[in-house]
Amino acid sequence: MTTPDTASSLPMDPPAAASPRRQGHAGDAGSSSNTGHAGHAGNSRKRIRVIDAVILLGALAGVAGIALGLLAPSRAGMAAGVVIAYAGFCAAVIGRHRQRHARAGQLSEARDGATVVAYASQSGFAEQLALQTAQALQDAGVPAQLLSFDQLEAGRLAHCRQALFVVSTTGEGDAPDSASGFARRLTAAAGAGGLGELRYGILALGDRSYANYCAFGHALSAWMQRQHAQALFDMVEVDNGDAGALRHWQNHLSALCGGAEIADWEKPRYADWRLHERRLLNPGSPGAPAFHLALVPAAVGQGAPSWQAGDIAEIGPRLAPSEVARVLAKLSLDGDTAVRCDGASTTLAQALATRIVLPDPHLAALDGVTPQRLVDTLPPLPHREYSIASLPGDGQLDLLVRQTRHDDGRLGLASGWLTAHAQPGAGIALRIRTNRGFHPPADDRPLILIGNGTGLAGLRAHLKARAVAGHHRNWLLFGERTAEHDAFHHVELAAWQANGVLQRLDLVYSRDGGPLRYVQDAVRASAGALREWIEAGAAIYVCGSLKGMAGGVNAALADVLGEEALLRLGEQGRYRRDVY
Ligand SMILES: Cc1cc2nc3c(=O)[nH]c(=O)nc-3n(C[C@H](O)[C@H](O)[C@H](O)COP(=O)(O)OP(=O)(O)OC[C@H]3O[C@@H](n4cnc5c(N)ncnc54)[C@H](O)[C@@H]3O)c2cc1C
Ligand SMILES: Cc1cc2nc3c(=O)[nH]c(=O)nc-3n(C[C@H](O)[C@H](O)[C@H](O)COP(=O)(O)O)c2cc1C
Repeated sequence: MTTPDTASSLPMDPPAAASPRRQGHAGDAGSSSNTGHAGHAGNSRKRIRVIDAVILLGALAGVAGIALGLLAPSRAGMAAGVVIAYAGFCAAVIGRHRQRHARAGQLSEARDGATVVAYASQSGFAEQLALQTAQALQDAGVPAQLLSFDQLEAGRLAHCRQALFVVSTTGEGDAPDSASGFARRLTAAAGAGGLGELRYGILALGDRSYANYCAFGHALSAWMQRQHAQALFDMVEVDNGDAGALRHWQNHLSALCGGAEIADWEKPRYADWRLHERRLLNPGSPGAPAFHLALVPAAVGQGAPSWQAGDIAEIGPRLAPSEVARVLAKLSLDGDTAVRCDGASTTLAQALATRIVLPDPHLAALDGVTPQRLVDTLPPLPHREYSIASLPGDGQLDLLVRQTRHDDGRLGLASGWLTAHAQPGAGIALRIRTNRGFHPPADDRPLILIGNGTGLAGLRAHLKARAVAGHHRNWLLFGERTAEHDAFHHVELAAWQANGVLQRLDLVYSRDGGPLRYVQDAVRASAGALREWIEAGAAIYVCGSLKGMAGGVNAALADVLGEEALLRLGEQGRYRRDVY
């Protein structure tokens, strides 16, 4: 599905040979779609190369100046050294600044079918993240165009298929200056419902210590919904530069690029866990295998891990041992060779298991490198996210993982590691990401839980939390394929029904004969009861597939409750989603 290829040779990127991108689109960015801009692109590249040279020369001059200053026998020599060092470092700093501008200039060139990456930034952070976002898409073979909000011309969005917005909030919940005219101009260009063709994602930067947290992001999100633009995923809020939220954004980028392995901007600091139990939940299912996994902390006595219902486990995957053996054989290297990797001593085989492997032709070019150089050259594998299906009080961290299989038969990177390659007892690199947007309600209001497939993971943690809190007004609507093979955790659900934790349970199986029926159909079929629960103050939590389920459920809820009422529930935190 995704075939990494060599990528950009921009100086701040990982080494060119180590940066992956999809082959299928690699040509798009540089060939037909670029023909009208080939001259600009070529000029930008030349400029970047010249700036690279200036930075290098500046840095060398700086170092030479310091050496001269330290070694010169006379005061004049020392002074000359200091001046050369100062000039050299100034050249390097200015070069870096120009380099960023040149790179932004290159990314802002128009490309046919490009994903627009638009930023609204007051002090530069959103701009920097937008630049990284556009660069990551380009490197993965997805053409991108980087624009500031004040460069977004009226009508641009109406003619664009996909856009990513990176926006901060400033003042007292205000839009950054560059975005102040945005809503006015675009509302004039496209009336309500005018962006039905646009798919979009929002990264909202803010700080929880302000009263109007991420207010501009929320205003933009509500406006997009009113324009009937289709959300690619739910808005990602970043509280004070939170690294976990940024990795979540990257995870979405990776999925947008068809699963391209985009190395994490900031690697999670994983803790060591152990695979305690793995059980196939759906033998005989017409769908892909889904597994219940139980993990426990590797070190006994290590501080008890803590999380809440709704939180996410970030998993550091490892390559299959057969893949590591193949790479070692190809490069004629010994897997037992001692190397340093991520600050620790390990073997080459262990280190390689955590690295993005280049496609064969590029791998062959690495023939003859030392084992250490190989480890240093290959970027670390990206993380993957999984909804946590249990509570700390259970003494284990449960996951519900569907095995992904690519068209060529390869298992998915992380789901392959978790469901097939890792053996019971194996170490699992895991970090818990707080997912505030999907935490339980603070009070005992009724809860309507809606989901499908592995989405039961997040909903199960909520039901467990409600059982512990003694809040029994819960209604679960859950969809899978067949009652016979896909009734995940049915014994537990039946027990919750029997003891009153679940007041209502609607199970919908799409392939049990008769017309296809999905969980959104159950929402529509229960319109009256749903309205009653909402009138009684209920909150709605949705977990599971973005494709098909989340959109279908959203449409069904809008039909049953009304579009404006659903928007208001979202604004009040009574409609929350964890969909992927
Ligand atoms: C917040 C969140 C919570 C999640 N919770 C769960 C969970 O509880 N359980 C669970 O099983 N998953 C969950 N996921 C999905 C999970 O993170 C991974 O995306 C999934 O396991 C596949 O990853 P992988 O590394 O195995 O596959 P990869 O090899 O990395 O493939 C990556 C992606 O490429 C896509 N893909 C695969 N084949 C094709 C193809 N032929 N064409 C186009 N695209 C393709 C798939 O969508 C896949 O997700 C969650 C995701 C998010 C963002
Ligand atoms: C003067 C000022 C006002 C801010 N006001 C808000 C606010 O109302 N709400 C919020 O969520 N964040 C607020 N923030 C936090 C910023 O949104 C956050 O720091 C963001 O990362 C800045 O991104 P930028 O550099 O792209 O502008 C404010 C920050 C500053 C400096």
